[in-house]
Amino acid sequence: MEFTDPELVDYCEKHTTEEDALLKKITRITETRILMPRMISGHFQGKFLELLSKMLRPRQILELGTYTGYSAICLAKGLPAEGKLTTIDINDELETMVRGFFSEGGYTDKIDYILGNAIEILPTLKGPFDLVFIDADKINYSNYFDLLIDKVPSGGIILADNVLWSGKILLRDGKKIDKDTRALLAFNQKIQEDSRVENVLLPIRDGMMMVRKI
Ligand SMILES: C[S@@+](CC[C@H](N)C(=O)[O-])C[C@H]1O[C@@H](n2cnc3c(N)ncnc32)[C@H](O)[C@@H]1O
Repeated sequence: MEFTDPELVDYCEKHTTEEDALLKKITRITETRILMPRMISGHFQGKFLELLSKMLRPRQILELGTYTGYSAICLAKGLPAEGKLTTIDINDELETMVRGFFSEGGYTDKIDYILGNAIEILPTLKGPFDLVFIDADKINYSNYFDLLIDKVPSGGIILADNVLWSGKILLRDGKKIDKDTRALLAFNQKIQEDSRVENVLLPIRDGMMMVRKI
């Protein structure tokens, strides 16, 4: 489901500052050589992440779901001099390429790239994380939130991508609702009912839940 008229999306992109050369290269390589290129945040959403990070100037960022490194680089652009971003991905097939992108952009010292299952790694991380981007397996969004909420300080921001799941969250026929959709419906409801946070569901691309810890 397209939430917005494609012409309007095109207009929004044309009025969003261009990506730098490295981000363009990551997009090109992801689209031509990597499975499921739709997973990349891309120009419009990437710029949103970058500007938000630049506004917050987070000392520590956590990302779940690195993929080809696009969103990690966008978020890292907002780190202050001493800041760090930790990004986790279970898929080690992309490691060499992603490390190459981080090195090419001069992010090797800024980005801690961890390979493994986020569910197992999250409890080992200390934090505090001022900004978190949840973009890994949808089935675990609620578990990720439970594991990280105590590592986020008051005023910290958690973003969760794909929470509208191409509009499937509006399906009413129980039989047609798959596991991922069910998990995202539960996550959105859980956030809405959690008195420790305030939140806004933004209809950006595939839907992004923005959560602020009170
Ligand atoms: C939507 S992509 C991330 C896109 C990336 N954030 C971007 O915007 O360019 C999701 C990624 O989550 C990873 N993933 C899935 N399950 C995971 C898990 N349990 N732990 C860590 N990473 C996982 C996948 O390997 C995939 O690379």
